Amino acid sequence: MSTQIPSLLKINTSVFADKGNSSVLAENIVAAWRRKHPTGQVVTRDLAGSPVPHLDATRIVALSTPAADRTPEQAAIVAESDALIDELKAADTIVLGLPMYNFGVPSQLKAYIDHLARAGVTFRYTETGPVGLIGDRKLVVAAARGGIHLGQPSDTQTGFVKTFFNFLGIQNIEFVYAEGLAYSAEHKSKAFEQAQAVIEKLAA
Ligand SMILES: Cc1cc2nc3c(=O)[nH]c(=O)nc-3n(C[C@H](O)[C@H](O)[C@H](O)COP(=O)(O)O)c2cc1C
Repeated sequence: MSTQIPSLLKINTSVFADKGNSSVLAENIVAAWRRKHPTGQVVTRDLAGSPVPHLDATRIVALSTPAADRTPEQAAIVAESDALIDELKAADTIVLGLPMYNFGVPSQLKAYIDHLARAGVTFRYTETGPVGLIGDRKLVVAAARGGIHLGQPSDTQTGFVKTFFNFLGIQNIEFVYAEGLAYSAEHKSKAFEQAQAVIEKLAA
């Protein structure tokens, strides 16, 4: 975690880049953060525009090969994953744009998550269970959905995102939801209004 300059990592995952509802919501969260941290540094990662590779057997073997035994190709694969982890660890605050696509998280986000889960690097198992190694920091999730799912079995995202980041050691997680965006223009504008009220409350 950075010691002096407040730093925020914004992770966009919408296929619609900045125009995605989750990206707009994430940017509204960033704007509230900037008001509090005018000299803070914001880094953006666009996972749909610049996707990270999916896991495959070559990558898994590289990641589980001890550093001293890695080929140059394997070292390059591990360096790619290390860079994503370092970027995450450098941020005091993470804002994650989270669209719902087909009842799950975007596949680009899942691919990214697969780079972050590294035994001995971001988590480890102990006799009493798993321990996250990332260190706690704030994660604010900007969740945009066409339908309404909160509190229902169809909300597969909230539990998954919480479970995964808790596993890495991040406990301080807040969600800002904009739901029912496909219902009507009026419903969408109300959902954004309600989301903004939550954002202001979180920033207060
Ligand atoms: C391919 C695709 C699949 C979608 N699947 C769902 C879904 O399963 N449930 C839902 O409530 N909305 C669904 N939606 C609507 C999106 O959640 C909604 O458009 C939201 O704004 C997406 O976030 P984004 O605009 O940041 O990309 C889907 C949209 C797309 C494009």
